[in-house]
Amino acid sequence: MHIEKLTPQIGAVIREINLNEKTTDTLIEKIKEAFYNHLVIFIEDQDIDPRQFIRFSKHFGELGAYPFVKGMDHFPEIVEVRKKKDEKINFGGLWHTDTSYLPEPPASSILYAVEIPPVGGDTLFSNMYLAYENLTPAYKAILSNLRGYNTSDKADAAVTRTHRMADSPKNTKSIKTSAFHPIVRTHPITKKLSLYCSNAHTTHIEGMSNEESKGILQFLFSQQTKEEYTCRYKWKKGTIALWDNIACQHNALNDYHGFERVMYRITHRGAKPY
Ligand code: SIN
Repeated sequence: MHIEKLTPQIGAVIREINLNEKTTDTLIEKIKEAFYNHLVIFIEDQDIDPRQFIRFSKHFGELGAYPFVKGMDHFPEIVEVRKKKDEKINFGGLWHTDTSYLPEPPASSILYAVEIPPVGGDTLFSNMYLAYENLTPAYKAILSNLRGYNTSDKADAAVTRTHRMADSPKNTKSIKTSAFHPIVRTHPITKKLSLYCSNAHTTHIEGMSNEESKGILQFLFSQQTKEEYTCRYKWKKGTIALWDNIACQHNALNDYHGFERVMYRITHRGAKPY
């Protein structure tokens, strides 16, 4: 297995492994190590079917479910992230961490690139450890006890689900899609602190009005997406990306109108943030 950093801050590309062959515990441990070190890893040149994708995904945690869109027929664990040729809106096309409005948001997510446009449709990722670490001690002290209100209702995020909800709607009545979470959370595995709020889902800070929260949140949203904390991945068909939803955010670029893009998406269950 060959690992190459994508940037000094975040992201690594993994080559020279074949997930059609039996995966050993040692290989999975090496992949996990790369994942925790680089926050998002891209395993290139794989040719696997949905069953193999599910089997591989299970090495990284218990599989979760996406609240708004049904999974594939026969493979309910997989949600198809599809943008059709004639559609203008893409899924996940803004900076976010996946479904952070759930009381127990997913710990990580995994995508498999099934069909990609000839050019465009890259995904950006940003390092939330660095976004936190590079704040001043005084600002960290202000944030230390704050909780953000996260909801699925923010218009810019809600619109990105439109087409897929129209195709494969799921009954979400019994699912809670809003939650207060600490703005600074501790990663349960690495024990490092990261910034956990997002322009996509966080509306205000607990105990403050939207107006009072605005100054803090706008500053944090721009801090989270500073270019020096990010990487950009140009997809190849057959790449598997695995990212940490506690320690990074991502943004699927929507610059490929007129072409189809299809990804298989699975999330891993997470715990209540602390
Ligand atoms: C997502 O936000 O889950 C989708 C990301 C992508 O399609 O690149």
